[in-house]
Amino acid sequence: MPLTDQHVEQLRQQFPALSRRVGDQPAIYFDGPAGTQVPQRVIDAISDYLSNRNANHGGLFPTSRESDQMLDQAHQAVADLLGAGDPQCVAFGPNMTTLTFALSRALAKTWQRGDEIIVTRLDHDANVTPWVLAAQDAGVTVQYLDFVHDDCTLNMADFHSQLSEKTKLVAVGCASNSTGSINPVREICEGARSVGALSFLDAVHYAPHALLDVRTWGCDFLACSAYKFFGPHIGIMWGKRELLEGLSAYKLRPAPDDLPGKWMTGTQNHECIAGVLAAVDYLANLGREVSRHHEIDRRAALEQAYAAIGDYEAALMRRLLEGLRQLEDVKVYGITDPEQFGNRLPTVSITHQRLSPAALAERLGELGIFVWHGNYYALQITEQLGLEPDGMVRIGLVHYNTLEEVDRLLNVLAAL
Ligand SMILES: Cc1ncc(COP(=O)(O)O)c(C=O)c1O
Repeated sequence: MPLTDQHVEQLRQQFPALSRRVGDQPAIYFDGPAGTQVPQRVIDAISDYLSNRNANHGGLFPTSRESDQMLDQAHQAVADLLGAGDPQCVAFGPNMTTLTFALSRALAKTWQRGDEIIVTRLDHDANVTPWVLAAQDAGVTVQYLDFVHDDCTLNMADFHSQLSEKTKLVAVGCASNSTGSINPVREICEGARSVGALSFLDAVHYAPHALLDVRTWGCDFLACSAYKFFGPHIGIMWGKRELLEGLSAYKLRPAPDDLPGKWMTGTQNHECIAGVLAAVDYLANLGREVSRHHEIDRRAALEQAYAAIGDYEAALMRRLLEGLRQLEDVKVYGITDPEQFGNRLPTVSITHQRLSPAALAERLGELGIFVWHGNYYALQITEQLGLEPDGMVRIGLVHYNTLEEVDRLLNVLAAL
């Protein structure tokens, strides 16, 4: 079922930030890829945790027991979000970057000189440098998978030729946080598996837009970040049970040896974990509302939510890209062929002929339109495209944005 204007109107009311005004105009949040806004229920869950069940893990008294109950529910909610089944294979941590560094260090212990790993030039650096540094420590060779400059899609022919018996890991993003390109992760994970390599997916940019599905994709590990999918600032890592159990994690001696505690170093940010649970339930609730099936389970509800979000965002993206095409001063990077729109998310990076990315972002900010500028840490893309040090301007649409907002941006750009 599609997301109607009425649904969008109702869901927007759940996000307090969306009522902000700049001058006499409502603020437009096109900065979702750098962090989305959160619905009231996420704010309430964090506040409720701190007010009523704030306690450390494993205590034998009511607040600690209630806190642990909430943690169990949050692990289950994220397992449902990832299509993972097993809640113990979900670990929380400070952010995706830190969790990836932790995993890279543990995996590197299993590598030997002469081994190879593959990273891509399309990825956020959080899915590149942790692996490159771990490879340096272990004396392992790094292969860089390039992208086609015309449309910023991965060069899959290169991928297949880089794979070999020496490959130990393939680290790739589900989608680019810069150009919105969606990567063929199922094919990539299958390729990795065919040579006995492991696969690690960065789902940070994908998670607010489309259904995550670790079982269908066949990946070995996946990481994402709740602040990109309407939750608080906290990272998430998932891995296959046998791998998470078998690897030796960098952990303290008294910390648990079993899952998920083994991978969750230090005292966790419980209030944010409560917020993650609420964020997943926000999405599931949206799925129940749009499908009008109020009794379906959380995973089925998330499938409905993402189907509706995907259709709605595709319409916004089409309007944006069609509008940008009319503007002579604007160049769009990434997929612009309407036939290929199914292979991109509504994250659009542009440059302007007369204004630097910073100047354009600042001008738009003054007019109440919030966009990002620079390389957004997807550094190799701007390096490869010759766009350093200024980078681009990123317009990131999510399901709380509207066609009116897209039109307002297009009008402002046309009038510059
Ligand atoms: C695609 C992608 N991967 C990884 C990250 C890093 O996530 P975190 O801030 O949770 O470390 C980001 C953050 O912008 C991102 O967009």
